Amino acid sequence: MSAAILLRDGFGRQINYLRLSVTDRCNFRCVYCMPEKMRFLPRAQVLSAEELLCVGSAFVDLGVNKIRLTGGEPLVNPRLPWLVEKFAALPGLDQVTLTTNGDRLGIYAKSLKAAGLDRINISLDSLKPERFAELTRTGSLRRVLEGIAAAQRAGFKRLKINAVILRGRNDDEVLELLRFARHEALDITFIEEMPLGHINEHDRKFCFISSEEIKAAISTEFPLIPTLENSGGPARYYRMDDSPISVGFISPHSNNFCGTCNRVRVTAEGRLLLCLGNEHSLDLRQILRESPNAPDLLKSKIQNAMSFKPESHHFDLNEAPQIVRFMNMTGG
Ligand code: 5AD
Ligand code: SF4
Repeated sequence: MSAAILLRDGFGRQINYLRLSVTDRCNFRCVYCMPEKMRFLPRAQVLSAEELLCVGSAFVDLGVNKIRLTGGEPLVNPRLPWLVEKFAALPGLDQVTLTTNGDRLGIYAKSLKAAGLDRINISLDSLKPERFAELTRTGSLRRVLEGIAAAQRAGFKRLKINAVILRGRNDDEVLELLRFARHEALDITFIEEMPLGHINEHDRKFCFISSEEIKAAISTEFPLIPTLENSGGPARYYRMDDSPISVGFISPHSNNFCGTCNRVRVTAEGRLLLCLGNEHSLDLRQILRESPNAPDLLKSKIQNAMSFKPESHHFDLNEAPQIVRFMNMTGG
């Protein structure tokens, strides 16, 4: 393979990680992510599996070595195993990973493993069936737990749980979620809620609970040892003496990780987002559809867009959301 052209932004940061949303659709309606009556995009506005492959391949040619497939819920896209297989075969791409709500892992875990998927993150905010149903509005805890078991049976290692913690809703389950993760040998990351999109189900100001507070609650029972593990994103990782799992905390409200930011996102409709907290974007779908079969044009547009990546972001819970897209457009 020819030497990859590096993607570098205006602040000297090298971009080697793409988060690619493969659908805006989801079979859950998590209270922090979507309104109950969510309207999804007309299908023609969403990138096809072939277009997703063109976009991903362009980034890999430009030096990206890790792609995370997100949604919406990626597994509502029936072409996902095909896409994973194509990506896994790209020289230069070291890791293809998936973020899922776990609901359809029972069906897909085996074929995803066979297709070459490297790692899976599964969202799990509660271990109480009624509460799980309330937080996801349409989800079934039993199916997600079955999905996790299916992924373990399929041979996936180091599965990771993502838990969004909301004050007064599930903050009393932090220790229980951690015990579950320890018991099942799953990594776990606790996430602060981000002000993306207008939701009216709860007031984010009152539900916000900081990673510091969650960490303090855990430390009373399980001493946490800081590590230097760094994914280039907003997560900080810890270990425990008596368990092999990693415990992460994602604090998107803090921006002191921006200096090492190594990632960009592409939404389900093909908008290249340079920063989760800013609206700067480039319409890759338009380029793909106006000039199909012009990978060099696509790559040069992507390269030029890097100069618009902002130095850092800022979220303010006291202001109305600045970012009107919902999380299902961009993936976590
Ligand atoms: N704030 C924080 N996390 C969110 N997620 C979805 N919406 C939000 C939000 N507003 C999480 C999901 C999943 C990951 C992809 O992002 O729960 O774990
Ligand atoms: Fe779906 Fe994930 Fe949003 Fe929940 S957080 S509604 S599972 S996209």
